[in-house]
Amino acid sequence: MQPLACLNLLLLLWDILPVTLSLSTCKTIDMEQIRKKRIEAIRGQILSKLKLSSPPEAQQVTVTNEVMVLYNSTRELLETEQPLAPTTQEDYYAKEVHRFDTLGDKPGNRGQGE
Ligand SMILES: *[C@@H]1O[C@H](CO)[C@@H](O)[C@H](O)[C@H]1NC(C)=O
Repeated sequence: MQPLACLNLLLLLWDILPVTLSLSTCKTIDMEQIRKKRIEAIRGQILSKLKLSSPPEAQQVTVTNEVMVLYNSTRELLETEQPLAPTTQEDYYAKEVHRFDTLGDKPGNRGQGE
């Protein structure tokens, strides 16, 4: 572990320590129970967003062989494909430069830079 990471961990523990000590004086708190309640609450929120009263039944999905072949070939292509990021710094920059003069034909601009 790097020294900075060690220091961060130490500071984190230092912050948590008083809370942990104060919690130990309360009734035992079942963190697993809290986690389950939290998941339950989130599940309820998702269902209410979807305007459902209960989770939908899971459906058996059948995929045709044609789709599986397409899926496999796409996956193989992605595995063999070169990364999209340019490999050299030269490839990174544009090779054409277009110049557009933005100074209009206003009387004040005439003759400048000529
Ligand atoms: C797709 O790939 C999987 C795993 O590589 C293989 O088991 C399966 O037979 C392939 N399916 C088709 C239709 O090519």
